[in-house]
Parts: sequence; C-alpha cells; structure tokens
Amino acid sequence: MEFSIKSGAPEKQRTACIVVGVFEPRKLSSSAESVDRVAKGQLSDILRRGDMEGKLGSTLLLHNVQNLLSDRVLLVGLGREREFRDKEYRDACRAAIRTLNDTGSMEAVVFLTELPVRRRTMEWKVAQAALVASEALYRFDQLKSKPSEMRRPLRKLTLTVSRRSELSAGELALSQAQAVAHGMGLAKDLGNLPPNLCTPSYLADRALEIAKAGGMNCEVLDTADMEKLGMGALLAVARGSAQPPKLIVLHYEGAQDGSAPVALIGKGVTFDTGGISLKPAAEMDEMKFDMCGAAAVLGTMQAVAEMRLPLNVVALIPATENMPGGRATKPGDIVTTLSGQSVEILNTDAEGRLILCDTMTYAERFKPAAVIDIATLTGACVIALGHVAAGLFANDDALAREVLAAGDIAYDRAWHMPLWDDYQEQLRSNFADMANIGGRPAGSITAACFLSRFAKNFRWAHLDIAGVAWKSGREKGSTGRPVPLLAQFLIDRARDHAETLAK
Ligand code: BES
Ligand code: MN
Ligand code: ZN
Repeated sequence: MEFSIKSGAPEKQRTACIVVGVFEPRKLSSSAESVDRVAKGQLSDILRRGDMEGKLGSTLLLHNVQNLLSDRVLLVGLGREREFRDKEYRDACRAAIRTLNDTGSMEAVVFLTELPVRRRTMEWKVAQAALVASEALYRFDQLKSKPSEMRRPLRKLTLTVSRRSELSAGELALSQAQAVAHGMGLAKDLGNLPPNLCTPSYLADRALEIAKAGGMNCEVLDTADMEKLGMGALLAVARGSAQPPKLIVLHYEGAQDGSAPVALIGKGVTFDTGGISLKPAAEMDEMKFDMCGAAAVLGTMQAVAEMRLPLNVVALIPATENMPGGRATKPGDIVTTLSGQSVEILNTDAEGRLILCDTMTYAERFKPAAVIDIATLTGACVIALGHVAAGLFANDDALAREVLAAGDIAYDRAWHMPLWDDYQEQLRSNFADMANIGGRPAGSITAACFLSRFAKNFRWAHLDIAGVAWKSGREKGSTGRPVPLLAQFLIDRARDHAETLAK
C-alpha cells in the first residue's frame, strides 16, 4: 500500500473517492460541510432522508455528487462529537479503509485526519491512520494453495492536513508510521508462520537477512557457545528438542557516539509444548505464538533501521523449542544459570524465564542504558489484563513511566504491575537458590520477580505480552504488538538523546 500527504479542499481532489466524516446525530464534519456546500446541499439532503445517522463505524458510499472532481464520496460515521477520542478515531479510519477496499476505489483521499482528537497532534492522526490502514489490509495467505485475489484492492491512500505548512511534519510522521507498519507486518508474519517452518534456525536466518538489509551487525550463538559460556538455564529448555537452540544478537548503531545502547530481549520459544510438564492438547497450536516477543524485537529493529534513528540498540533473542523427550529436563532438575545462581526447575512449562535469565546476564556485557524484555510469559497475565494491555514490570520507575507513555501515544498500551519484594518468597526452594515457579497466586508477578533477580546490574523493564501478542478464534493471528510501543519508546529516546547532545 502506498501512502502520501496532501493539503487542499475536498471538492478539488481528482480521485476515485474522498472520505469525510459525519458525527451523530447527522452532523457533517467541516470537510463534509465544504463538500455539501459545493454540492448544493446534496449531503445534507441524504442525511435528512435518514440514510446515515453517523453511528461510529457506519459508512455510506455516494456516487454522482455534484460539482466534485472525485468519482465517489465515502461518508464515515464518527459517533458523538463529544465522545470522539483515540479509539473512535481509529475505529472510523478502520471502517473507511475496509469499505474502500471492499468497493471499487483503488485510491482515495482521506479527510478524517483533519478531525480534532483531544490531546492529539496532526502527526499522531497521520501516523495512526497509516497504521490502522496497514493493519486492516494485512493478510497471511502465503501458505494457501490459491491466495485469495482481491478484485479491486485499495492501492493508494492520501492523507490530508489542513495547512500547507504542516506538509513536511506530516510527511515525517507518515514515513515513521510506515516503518512501524512494516515492522509490525514482519512481526505478524513471523508469529503466524507454523512451528515446523519457524524454528530457532529459521529465526536466526531471518535475523541475518534483516541485519543485512538494515546495515546492522548480527551474530548467532549456537549450543557450543552457550555451553562454553555456562548458560545452563537456556540449555535446559532446549534439551528435549531435535532443533538446535540459537541466541541471536543484533546490533543497530545509529548514534555513532559510543553511547550506551538500549537492549531489547525477545522470548523466542518457537513452540512451547510445556516439556515434561506437558500442556493439555486443546489450543496447543497457539503455542507457536510463543516467539512473539522475538518477532516484536525483530520487527522493531527493522523499523529502527528504516527510520535511521540516531541511537544505539542491541537486540538479544534466545530461540528454542520446549519439547518433551528422553533427554528433556525433568521437574526437580537443578541447573546453574550464567549468573551463577542455581534454579530448581519444578515445572518445565515455566521455560520463558529460564531462557530470558541467561540472556539478561549476557546483556550485561553491552553495558546497556536500559534493558527491556518482551515475552509471552504467563497465562496469569492474560487473566489479569485480558487482551487489552501488556503487563509492565520494572526495577526503575522513570523507565516504567517512559514505557507507559510510549504505549499511550502508540495506542499499544501497557499497565504497571507491582514488583514488591513481598512476592519474592514464593520462589523459595529447599534445594537451590530459587525455584522457577511461585505457585498459582500472582503468577505474572512471581515470573517477573524471577527475572528481577537477573536484573540487578541495569535499569530493566519487562513486558508480559501473553494477552496481546495474538488473537484466538475466528480472527486467529499475530497482532504485531508491541512493535508500536517499542518503536515509539525508541523514537522518544532518540529525540531526548539528540536534545541532550545539543545542550
Ligand atoms: N508460553 C506460556 C505462557 C502462556 C500461556 C501465554 C498461555 C499465553 C497463553 C509460558 O511458557 C507458560 O507456559 N507459563 C506457565 C507458567 C506456569 C507453569 C508457572 C503458565 O502461564 O501457565
Ligand atoms: Mn511454557
Ligand atoms: Zn512459553
């Protein structure tokens, strides 16, 4: 899909379709009003006859509107003007895109970007429109024998800004949003791939490709490297699998001033059977999505490279399967982590924290300014926050606030959860420094507590994305979250870094 930015009156657009909004009840938005004026009241006539109330997400496609240069006008319901916020803006954009794609218009000029949204800038509206459009048009049909051919798909979308002076800022916002959309698309594709294709080796190969395309350095550690280092926890998870584990390390150097990098760590369990603590059969296929943290990190790195952000980022991805088998780790096994701390593995299904802890210790060598890990870590987080917000845990409140703010702007939200020491005692073990599970209560918090024991030497935040990384049911598929949050976090950091340098 191609995007562009433009300013100008709706009636002057020579295009297949112009898109304007209607508030409930039957109130034309300002660009709809200017169309109505030129068209001698044709729109208000249609509203008066009752064809459109303006209910949020409703659409009405009009042909032969007088005195316009466009072939069609698409009216989009916006709901009540007083209630028009972030979600309503996104819903209206999505409804417009879907209708355009399902009807004959292969290109369109959208005026929804000119609607006021409380607390939001023109740049935000442009970026969100582009992101919602890319999301709405995403398909994963590469493994169907006959990909579904769209008859006249939407190919080109022009987003409008009210003033010519806003064009260049709008173009920057659009190009960043497109980089984020591409990163999300990559994350979705990797998540949606079946686990027989998306193995640890496949992820490593894709990381090498992404690195090459984006001018990044990438190294891949194999089993022998992990053994030499002493990554007993990561190796314990990989033991049952016929697929060799990989630790992918990807460097983006955009600051070129040797400044401390942000480290992103993504859980890459390409299939989680639970291991010897085997999961039940129902919906086990969804455990192919257990590498969505890794996918989000790769998508974010690709976006950062496409945006050429002036900061340093290092991505670390422990990739493995979690399988049962004759060599697999058994409940009760005790292993020594790279940090030197020992862990009693009471449940082999709590494998995410085991591969992350060794990767976190490994990250210390890059002297990171901050470390963020992203993981489909606990079913308990899905129970706590559902499919709306990711769980955020941090050992540094300023870092937590930065992550929350990025999620708010990107409409990819996280919720700050407690990490109080009082929860740590649930991880007590009689035989090792700690157990890898903390019992049923507060499952997402004790998982974060486990990780916190490996985050003593840096500022750290943990995003539990178990509830937001994919959708189940009819719309089953990866969401590409939290690429928007992570990209926004890095955009904001790069800006702050540049501002401190300028001072
Ligand atoms: N990958 C799962 C977490 C998960 C489960 C995400 C269901 C989304 C839906 C993780 O490895 C896991 O199995 N966690 C266990 C931990 C438990 C054994 C302490 C869980 O959440 O049940
Ligand atoms: Mn598991
Ligand atoms: Zn898992």
